[in-house]
Amino acid sequence: MAARETIIILDFGSQYSQLIARRVREAAVYCELLPYHTPAEEVLRLQPRGFILSGGPASVYAADAPHLPDYVLQSGRPVLGICYGMQLLAYHLGGQVDPAPQREYGPARIELTDVDTPLFAGARAAAGNTLTVWMSHGDRITQLPPGFQVLARSANSPIAAMGDVQRHLYGLQFHPEVVHTPQGMQILSAFLYDICGCQGGWTPGNFIEETVQSIRERVGDGQVVCALSGGVDSAVTATLIHRAIGERLTCIFVNTGLMRLGEPEQVVATFRDHLGMRLIAIDATEQFLADLQGVTDPEVKRKRIGARFIRVFEAEAARLGRVDFLAQGTLYPDVIESTAPDRAVAAKIKTHHNVGGLPPDMRFQLIEPLRYLFKDEVRRVGEALGLPRQIVWRHPFPGPGLAVRVLGEVTWERLETLRHADAIFIEELWTSGWYERTAQAFAVLLPVQTVGVMGDSRTYASVVALRAITTEDFMTADWARLPDELLARVSNRIVNEVKGVNRVVYDISSKPPATVEWE
Ligand code: XMP
Repeated sequence: MAARETIIILDFGSQYSQLIARRVREAAVYCELLPYHTPAEEVLRLQPRGFILSGGPASVYAADAPHLPDYVLQSGRPVLGICYGMQLLAYHLGGQVDPAPQREYGPARIELTDVDTPLFAGARAAAGNTLTVWMSHGDRITQLPPGFQVLARSANSPIAAMGDVQRHLYGLQFHPEVVHTPQGMQILSAFLYDICGCQGGWTPGNFIEETVQSIRERVGDGQVVCALSGGVDSAVTATLIHRAIGERLTCIFVNTGLMRLGEPEQVVATFRDHLGMRLIAIDATEQFLADLQGVTDPEVKRKRIGARFIRVFEAEAARLGRVDFLAQGTLYPDVIESTAPDRAVAAKIKTHHNVGGLPPDMRFQLIEPLRYLFKDEVRRVGEALGLPRQIVWRHPFPGPGLAVRVLGEVTWERLETLRHADAIFIEELWTSGWYERTAQAFAVLLPVQTVGVMGDSRTYASVVALRAITTEDFMTADWARLPDELLARVSNRIVNEVKGVNRVVYDISSKPPATVEWE
């Protein structure tokens, strides 16, 4: 297969590095985000069409500042430095970088100079010479490196953008990747298409074709097993593999009894009946509930569920006889090696979340077709594969399922109460058009009873909390500003339709300091 047209983003530790990668992919160009210290051979093997240098928290003059690896400029390929990346270019090419009189953070206006450059041609045509951009920097460039020209100025940054048009080297003091820079996509696209000469074949259709082909080659006449959870990642993984090798894929779906209303039935209907996959569905509800009896500690719940899942899954896989490969829906954010210390920790927490389902002493080889995809790309691939909307747009659902949303002891009755309350909330979100406007939404059954009044009599019954959030990456999140009428309708319906619930509250905590889940 010919080398895929690739842009390399070198990560210098900015909180926006992943966002740059997502924007480049959105522009239909494949890119990889690599730590700045990745060995040269590993980067050059990908035959980059161009480089983007991310921002970062360091100052180029600091003793331990990360530096620009030599191969970047030696390659002769176009380079776009963003924020710290721009300062690195200036520093390494003979310019001057100094602390700005004040740190600049937030929206700013830049004035394009009359230097004619493809980088700003589209933005200029769309918005004129004054652009709104997002700044976030402490240092700034005070003297251009030889060969460079000023492309834009702002009140605080006399050099807000610079370029050496001959050598295709560009620097932006601002962040084109964030939505607060309205012409940011045009600027990035100009770099990719007009400066790096990309053709832009990174589309779901092409991805599917290439991936199906490479799965076929890799698996040969082998057998693959895949754990289906009902979520979009495992659904897309299984569908791609099914396209490639058909009957030689067996999916295993474990009903833990901790799923939402109608979910196990929907998984079987979609994958076995509709998509025609070979699917083994196991109802292990009793085993999971027995393991959870009397348990209230959230971590103990997680551990017991994880351990049981592996045992059930392994027993089924063993029954299949020969299995050569285990398919997993690992995504790119789980794989990216982070250069920011705080995000390295975050990445670890996530891995912990994903252990459920992975046998510890693996006898199989792994297939991870989504390893280089972001979640939004997985959804687009899911749509292109024709998967139902309910699966493609389904919110993330934790491996331990409703066990971490039934606070306190998990019993069948309490699970049923929560399932019904949750189903009402989710149904109302879909019908009001709010499901797709929130990143995650669910109900939680609290372990307290409160007094209420129904008709002429007092009640003493359970409380349900509703949680709905908006977020880009689940590391930080805000509570969704759902309309009052929607909340009122959900509350009304839950209290009227779900036996044993007399009070509904809405969670208005952001993450941090709260987390998304309550346990
Ligand atoms: P928190 O609660 O950590 O959640 O803010 C962030 C995201 O992770 C999901 N989550 C889990 N997913 N196993 C999983 O597979 C877990 O144990 C788990 N705990 C939280 C949560 O639903 C949210 O999307």
